[in-house]
Amino acid sequence: MDSVESAGGQLGAVLSAPRDGAAALGPGGPWLATSLEQARQVLTDPEAFDFPGNVNRTGDLSGSRGETRSGHTVFAPVSPDEVARGVAVFDAEWAAALGDHARDSLGEPYDAMVLLRRPVARSTTAAVLPGLDDARRDAVADHVLAWIDALGPVIAAHRRPRRWSRIRRTEHATRIALEDLLDAALSRLPGEDRTAQQLATMLAAGIQVPIAAGSFLLAWLAQHPRSVDPVHAVWETLRLTPPTWLTARVTTREVDLGGTAVPSGRVVFVSPLLLGRLDSLVPGAPDSLRDFDPGRWQDATRRPGAWLPFGAGPHACPGRTLGMAVLVRLASWGAKHEMTLSEDVRIDQSRGISPVPCRFTATARSETSP
Ligand code: HEM
Repeated sequence: MDSVESAGGQLGAVLSAPRDGAAALGPGGPWLATSLEQARQVLTDPEAFDFPGNVNRTGDLSGSRGETRSGHTVFAPVSPDEVARGVAVFDAEWAAALGDHARDSLGEPYDAMVLLRRPVARSTTAAVLPGLDDARRDAVADHVLAWIDALGPVIAAHRRPRRWSRIRRTEHATRIALEDLLDAALSRLPGEDRTAQQLATMLAAGIQVPIAAGSFLLAWLAQHPRSVDPVHAVWETLRLTPPTWLTARVTTREVDLGGTAVPSGRVVFVSPLLLGRLDSLVPGAPDSLRDFDPGRWQDATRRPGAWLPFGAGPHACPGRTLGMAVLVRLASWGAKHEMTLSEDVRIDQSRGISPVPCRFTATARSETSP
């Protein structure tokens, strides 16, 4: 897999930023929090650091209005029952996806970013909307995938696409189709008080990111054939390649961030990817922190997740427990298989980070394998 360290673009700029105080990435910002203390300050003080409407053009992801200063809804976390339901659906759909591949693409490598689409989409939809029957759940899941695909070119465009450009129109049409479907589904779910727009946001966030995270996990496991603890493998993946490697807030007034004065109205980034390389947060020798080494988490004195791969504060990820549970199931499957990458994996930076392509072959390990 491409080394994150050698990646250029925004990723390279963030990783090579000076580490004292908040780093200015350009003459007028954006600024970057370079320590855990600064990151916590940014994410947990919404009075000073507002949730952005539209950094990176992802503002369209939110139709929600309401509870925080910026009017952005705070999503309720997925409940333990919903997680259990999502995991059960993931298990069944993952087995089905592998079976379909064996039947339709005999001998072809798997492509993780493709293979994980349906299992993750159906699992997240089942967890977020447990009242839906299977046919409606699958239809919603397919529509969310279509919207995610249509949003991709809008987010990746170098310049903000014009309102009536083809990619904008396609994105708009797929979003309206999804919201119509959700409105129809909502009429059958008494007591559901979330709007179709809020649900669309929750589903898109809860499908696109775990597909990328699961693909990175399989890529890392394929490169490290030793037997690993599945939970440790997941944390190590979210440390080295957190799909949401950058999250942003906007200052509402001048703030002191680690001794740096950041003016009002400026973008401040928090990067779980950068924090995951701080030797104060991660066990192991400083020169080993670029390596995938799940065994480092046997050191119980350090808390995995201290680098905030799910964010923090009022906008922390509401699907964190579901995301973790699904990834641990996937890592357990990986631990039982011998996987080989079919080609180099590139790190795509067009939308968070994702491994593209991520093709691999897998054979079941025999019981006696180490
Ligand atoms: C491995 C899986 C996942 C990872 C690594 C992840 C990571 C993140 C991160 C870093 C944020 C931004 C937090 C911030 O800015 O402070 C976020 C937000 C969010 N995530 Fe996740 N996530 C995952 C899975 C999920 C799932 C399964 C769901 C839904 C069931 C979900 C729904 C959301 C939503 C709705 C937000 C926006 C929260 C807000 O705007 O208040 N995520 N996630």
